[in-house]
Amino acid sequence: MTASSGVLVDIDRPLLASSMWRAPFLLRHDLVGHPLVTRDAVVRLAGERPDYSISYGCSEQPVLSTGPGIERQGSAVDAAANIENNRSWIVLSYVDHATGYGELLDAVSTGFRSVLAARDGPIRARSGSIFMTSPRGVAPAHVDRHHNILLQVEGFKQLSVGEFDNEAVEEAELQNHFEGHNHLLRLPARFQTFTIGPGEGIYIPPYRPHWIVGHDNVTVGLSCSVRTRTSHRVELAHTFNSKVRRLGLRPRMPGVESRLDAAKAVALTAGREMQDARRTAARQLRGRFSSGK
Ligand SMILES: [Fe+2]
Repeated sequence: MTASSGVLVDIDRPLLASSMWRAPFLLRHDLVGHPLVTRDAVVRLAGERPDYSISYGCSEQPVLSTGPGIERQGSAVDAAANIENNRSWIVLSYVDHATGYGELLDAVSTGFRSVLAARDGPIRARSGSIFMTSPRGVAPAHVDRHHNILLQVEGFKQLSVGEFDNEAVEEAELQNHFEGHNHLLRLPARFQTFTIGPGEGIYIPPYRPHWIVGHDNVTVGLSCSVRTRTSHRVELAHTFNSKVRRLGLRPRMPGVESRLDAAKAVALTAGREMQDARRTAARQLRGRFSSGK
């Protein structure tokens, strides 16, 4: 694995094939020193990228955070440029839309995507985010909806990945997530903690609770999220469940192989299309009446 060979992430394909959806595992990469993933690159991107793709806030937060977090005063560029001392975090999302980063994400995720696609169906999207955090910064416990590899480029941090062993708790937390809450209200009883440093990374399965505590150093990392046909279907099934739970029903939890999930995904998509069609028809009628046709 060398940058000159174009292979930037050393994915153990059999390990990924047996671990996907199930278990986190460590991996190695060759991104350290890459000019697109340095502190200077983060400062530059913070000044160039659109507002919707930039988030930043106070990095002194609890692992279990129930609020939106403390916002930072000042610009994203200031937050990034003074990261050593300002107790902040900054995340640049959809970084693959920036010049040169799409190619970087493709190079990072080639092996990852091909193993995922073999079992999970075609890849629907891949996207990248760059994270930078002040010393001892915390990313509160949360879940992500798709397959993720997190590649550490600078500094050391502890990353914990868990699993709820109580289905009622898991359901409640996922309901909370699908209602728009970013963070978990409870930590799983079982979890593994990994220390990762420059050149190391980790695979995080979809919907696995995870949280991060930085060491006494600035941390910089790149994450690559891959949405497959299956992870998209499971996401739609969770969204469907979230809607029908509000009606007092207790739907079955989505699973990777479930035909029921496919039916829920179809129902949700059909419902959305019907809503779109109704809105379009109403718009057209309004247009006709207002123009007298
Ligand atoms: Fe995450």
